[in-house]
Amino acid sequence: MSGTEAQGPRLRPTLDGIPTYKPGKPASADSYKLSSNENPYEPLPGVLEAALAAAGSFNRYPDMATTELTAELAARFGVPAEHVATGTGSVSVAQSLVLSTAGPGDEVIFAWRSFEAYPIITQVAGATPVPVPLTAGEAHDLETMLAAITDRTRLIFVCNPNNPTGVAIHRGELERFLDAVPSDILVVLDEAYREFIRDAAVPDGIGIYRDRPNVCVLRTFSKAYGLAGLRVGFAIAHEPVATALRKTAIPFGVSQLAQDAAVASLRAEDALLVRVEALVEERTRVAAALAEQGWALADSQANFVWLRLGDRTMDFAEACARAGVIVRPFPGEGVRVTIGEVAANDIFLATAEAFRKEL
Ligand SMILES: Cc1ncc(COP(=O)(O)O)c(C=O)c1O
Repeated sequence: MSGTEAQGPRLRPTLDGIPTYKPGKPASADSYKLSSNENPYEPLPGVLEAALAAAGSFNRYPDMATTELTAELAARFGVPAEHVATGTGSVSVAQSLVLSTAGPGDEVIFAWRSFEAYPIITQVAGATPVPVPLTAGEAHDLETMLAAITDRTRLIFVCNPNNPTGVAIHRGELERFLDAVPSDILVVLDEAYREFIRDAAVPDGIGIYRDRPNVCVLRTFSKAYGLAGLRVGFAIAHEPVATALRKTAIPFGVSQLAQDAAVASLRAEDALLVRVEALVEERTRVAAALAEQGWALADSQANFVWLRLGDRTMDFAEACARAGVIVRPFPGEGVRVTIGEVAANDIFLATAEAFRKEL
């Protein structure tokens, strides 16, 4: 045996600096999970049936081109089918976007704190993350993001509304930003929570991407549509970008169950959106109650609220867990709490009220 045989395989050094993705904690049998921004409702009957029917053929590979889903999405959003690219959750589409644009020596800009996968997928591609701190109002600091652009910048993520703070960017501010970004840099409008927006000043990215070849929109079936466990998301992008996404995606990534359930969800959209409306009403109720308790809250346009608790973050998360709700703490920063079932929200509110009195 030579000395080199005893060494393990050489892994890319870039992996050493990559933080591990921390999923929301699972709930125990006697607690509610408010840690992953999921939809609390069970699948709609038609959607469940479509998935069950597809399960009968899972000895076969899925349709690699996701033909029916792509056509349904193209019709739903009024875009050419060539502009639609699907993937196993929008996070995998986001990763394909980075792999398509950035490699070693290149930079990817995003707000921070924002969706925790951005720095991970940037470093997986070997590129350099450029996080730009949020404003004091928990919003994207678009001026500073513009100032962070260099000739190495290849991609900018704009999370609208932002995960985990829920704050959304208004049209004028976003358009001024996009006008100022050089046209050879891809701007990804990550709209994972689009369906929960009620502020009319927040633009729909699909209206914005149309005449901007360097802008693409990221959407998911995981949140409002309630298909988090099936893993399906998509981008709407101009043809060169969408074509690159098809090249970098894992072949056969989106299962037939996921494809058929997503098509059924789009067809059952009216019923789904009634549920989304109920969650938005709950968000309004929860936010009003928190404000009444004395919490300073940024306006959330997503299916969660954000409490900046600093060094009390873990204490608060533990108090919630003891009371029966699992929330998502970001140690030293704050806690993100998904709007869930009314009973779960009530437990969270009661815990927040008791905790507030101790502060
Ligand atoms: C802003 C944002 N983008 C993308 C995703 C990825 O979701 P999925 O991969 O389930 O589509 C999430 C999930 O938490 C998110 O918060």
